[in-house]
Amino acid sequence: MSKKILVFGANGMLGSYLSNYFGKKGYEVVKTDRDNDDEKKIVGVDITNKKGLQDFVTEQNPDCVINCAAYTNVNQAESEPEVANTVNADAPKYMAEVSKDLNIPLIHISTNEVFGDGEYDEESKEFNPLNEYAKSKRRGEENIENVGGTYYIFRTSWLFGPNAKNFIKFVTETEATEEKPLTIVTDEKGCPTYVGYLTRRMEEAVESKIEPGIYHVCSSDMISRYEFALQILETQGIEKPVIPVEKKDLPPRPVISPSNQLINTKFPEHPTSYEMLVKYVEEMKQDRDNAGKKETVYGN
Ligand SMILES: NC(=O)c1ccc[n+]([C@@H]2O[C@H](COP(=O)([O-])OP(=O)(O)OC[C@H]3O[C@@H](n4cnc5c(N)ncnc54)[C@H](OP(=O)(O)O)[C@@H]3O)[C@@H](O)[C@H]2O)c1
Repeated sequence: MSKKILVFGANGMLGSYLSNYFGKKGYEVVKTDRDNDDEKKIVGVDITNKKGLQDFVTEQNPDCVINCAAYTNVNQAESEPEVANTVNADAPKYMAEVSKDLNIPLIHISTNEVFGDGEYDEESKEFNPLNEYAKSKRRGEENIENVGGTYYIFRTSWLFGPNAKNFIKFVTETEATEEKPLTIVTDEKGCPTYVGYLTRRMEEAVESKIEPGIYHVCSSDMISRYEFALQILETQGIEKPVIPVEKKDLPPRPVISPSNQLINTKFPEHPTSYEMLVKYVEEMKQDRDNAGKKETVYGN
């Protein structure tokens, strides 16, 4: 019999890909997000409402809970840290509690931003969240660890995927001319990660092929925003003038983010950022080709 999975944040960038992927594979997927959406079969569940969340999970009685919901507006979190904390720290605690009561695994997503600059493996305890979003995400991890039960925490970074406002959209859609080229920084570095690759690693948790615990899933190479922009344009066959700049050349940003690499010691080596981009472009092309047939490739 197929497994029943309950997804929080099913309308977000990761959650929508992941829900489609598991749905195509024959899982029974209960999709939830902040707002109800009948067309997408998404049930509105506010994850900051402890009773509402826990009653819903108990009624549904799934085989596992996957949390893709989060407060992800890093800039805005600086001015409303309490709201970020409620969504990113308190809600995962409610999920951990109910999952433990039902004796089912919780699969949660966290971020490279729990660390400062540098390289960090899964065992590292040198946490140094540099902004309010990052602090709330680390508190979420702690809360899950403190509740106990069976949990998987997947830390990832620079996520990209379809149907979302992200760096890929910015690079491909922003107009640029020789007179006014795109300016992208060389001194912010990270490990881009395709939601499709992350979803397939999370599937190993859903299928209990890996032990509960903390996992690092991101590209095996660390690159600058500038290098990533060039890779995006190359893999999509777009020609556009881009020039490298340093952060000091641009207006200051309201928030500090780290340049760091999540070191993976548990999975076989992850693909590079370029390989992940190639896979992304392939899947998007297949999706467009299948559009008339109303199919997605997510089940492949
Ligand atoms: N994007 C990245 O580069 C990145 C990098 C590292 C880690 N992560 C982590 O990866 C996970 C997925 O990120 P993503 O980029 O896919 O996020 P996303 O696109 O922003 O999706 C998050 C979803 O959570 C929903 N949500 C927020 N507050 C809620 C609430 N109170 N109740 C119910 N749903 C609520 C959002 O709804 P609304 O839109 O209505 O708010 C949204 O649909 C997150 O845990 C994030 O921290 C992301």
